[in-house]
Amino acid sequence: MSPQAGLHTPESLRPPRDGSAPVAAVTSRGGPAPRAAATLARCRDVVEPALREAVQGLHPEPGRIAAHSFGWCETDGTPSAGCGGKGVRPALAVLGAEAVGASADVAVPAAVAIELIHTFSLMHDDIMDGDETRRHRDSSWKAFGTGPAVLAGDALFALAVRTLAEADDVHGGSAVRQLAVMLGELVHGQADDVQFEKRPWTGGGAVSLTEYRAMATRKTGALLGCAVALGPVLAGAPPRLTDALARAGREWGLAFQAVDDVLGIWGDPAVTGKPVHSDLRRGKKTLPVLAALAEDPSLGPRLERLLDGRTPPDEARVRRAADLIEEAGGRTYALRDARARVAVARDRLRAAPLVAPRVDELVALSELFLDRRM
Ligand code: IPE
Ligand code: IPE
Ligand code: MG
Ligand code: MG
Repeated sequence: MSPQAGLHTPESLRPPRDGSAPVAAVTSRGGPAPRAAATLARCRDVVEPALREAVQGLHPEPGRIAAHSFGWCETDGTPSAGCGGKGVRPALAVLGAEAVGASADVAVPAAVAIELIHTFSLMHDDIMDGDETRRHRDSSWKAFGTGPAVLAGDALFALAVRTLAEADDVHGGSAVRQLAVMLGELVHGQADDVQFEKRPWTGGGAVSLTEYRAMATRKTGALLGCAVALGPVLAGAPPRLTDALARAGREWGLAFQAVDDVLGIWGDPAVTGKPVHSDLRRGKKTLPVLAALAEDPSLGPRLERLLDGRTPPDEARVRRAADLIEEAGGRTYALRDARARVAVARDRLRAAPLVAPRVDELVALSELFLDRRM
């Protein structure tokens, strides 16, 4: 089946307007989607009240910017039922705790901290990437200005650390340490991602697939790995279980980023809620491009001609570049790579002494990462 098979119209994929989880809109296929959608909705119900309460404690200005990004209000503060994010990471935190036999409630501070960190990283990422839309609305810097968006991100960062530090007398310290290590990795990965923009498509200074994987493991894998392990850490689970979950989460992160890279070139902005082709315009070294270059070295000079120049490339040139990358197999490679990583994570988790029905839910959720359209 082609990656576009079964694609609904953008309108039918649009997130619901009632403020509920946009999960039914995430994918258009059957398979794991209904079960994963139910999981995301269940976990959102568990986590969102605490997330809202935490954000309400912020200074009103960064608080409004945060609430806008979560889809809870318009730019002027009027309550709204926007879509916010998919809520993948808080769901991982809840499911991780349940997979080690703990209750969902134990994971709530971890889930809140992780979603705050994720949203902070997106606010700052959109500034770095120059992207004007996020979650089907203006990105924070576009709506409120760069300075306020930086500060709102900082506020979410600080709130995340506090939420976790105050979570549990016994295990809170360990959880904060894991969060701090993850943050260092995320920043390292972002720094690599941004630096790679300046590297050539081809020749001695070109970015290798190995370098890409190290970058994406840090930029995205570290947060997903931390998300699924942090609830269990708060629950006092043994390290061999938290490690097994964290390792699976890092594989999911690579898969998630590979699909994100695909959506950044061939996705529909009306569905993803964020721009298309921005990665190509900026010279991002995403997986489909690197895989295509590895497959067909003659692509390098052609991409250079299409994308590198004194003036930003027009839409026709960017589309031509996307076609060349697809013809060289870059899209197929990225999706196959993502599928293989999800399979590796599934097999590892099934081999670990975890609660089997919760592992099944985690596996269904990870399969949604592959089928997602947003
Ligand atoms: C976007 O993550 C950033 C990446 C790691 C690719 P999501 O696609 O989970 O973003 P939201 O939270 O649903 O908006
Ligand atoms: C995602 O970055 C990872 C972080 C923000 C740390 P990307 O730039 O690849 O993600 P999108 O496509 O903007 O969501
Ligand atoms: Mg970005
Ligand atoms: Mg980025």
